[in-house]
Amino acid sequence: MRIKDGDSNPIPVCRSFGRKIMNDFPKLTPRLACASKLIRASSFVADIGTDHAYLPIYLCLEGKARGAVASDINAGPVERAEKNINKYGLSDKITVLQTDGLNGIQEYRPTDIMILGMGGELISRIIEQAPWTKDESIQLCLQPMTHAEILREFLTKNGYSIVDERLAQEEKIYQIILAKYTGLCEELSEAQLLLGKINAARHDSAFISLAKRQIEILKRRAEGKKKANEDLTHEQSLIAEIKSMIGETT
Ligand SMILES: C[S@@+](CC[C@H](N)C(=O)[O-])C[C@H]1O[C@@H](n2cnc3c(N)ncnc32)[C@H](O)[C@@H]1O
Repeated sequence: MRIKDGDSNPIPVCRSFGRKIMNDFPKLTPRLACASKLIRASSFVADIGTDHAYLPIYLCLEGKARGAVASDINAGPVERAEKNINKYGLSDKITVLQTDGLNGIQEYRPTDIMILGMGGELISRIIEQAPWTKDESIQLCLQPMTHAEILREFLTKNGYSIVDERLAQEEKIYQIILAKYTGLCEELSEAQLLLGKINAARHDSAFISLAKRQIEILKRRAEGKKKANEDLTHEQSLIAEIKSMIGETT
């Protein structure tokens, strides 16, 4: 039986200690591998929107996580997660939960929460609806598919500090944000919200590619506005700020 949010007597779906079968586990994509490196040793992981549950499986097989809760709002992903968890003999280490966001996750006392592969707005909403994550011992590993700026703005205005950032390069560049609650708020510039202050300070080739792609997006937006006789000042100043971040002159 699977636990569904709102069930009066929820029973964990998967609970049986299994053998570790690391060899036939598929290689993680750069995005997932990059996120997995940010998870702390001996953590108890909550993977929200788990889909295939690859990350909690990998982290348990690797021995980095002592256990996990893998959750998803939809039945299809929950079934996929259960199937994979059983396949790797981890049904006693990983509990599968069908729930919206972080509802019902607190009782598992996760140390490391992962929310990957969703839009920045949705990730922000999920965290906002779980004020129990305002706990300095909990680490949030977040990977917005879109609108990283909305997520960074939500975090930094609500007392969550961004403690690390990574870029994972596949056919596109994915931003991964590590945050935890400190109670401190920080004001970031628009370019820092879009691209990340820590990414900018690291200034590696992935960051330069990301910044260049953002400049192209802004240029296209500015061209559209120019054709419509609209004010371009905002795009122009943002392009200038991003160019200065990568040492380009306007
Ligand atoms: C694109 S998949 C990402 C899967 C995996 N986290 C990854 O990054 O590879 C997004 C998953 O989030 C789930 N999802 C969407 N909204 C959700 C919500 N409010 N709460 C929990 N899961 C959600 C979807 O059902 C889907 O399985």
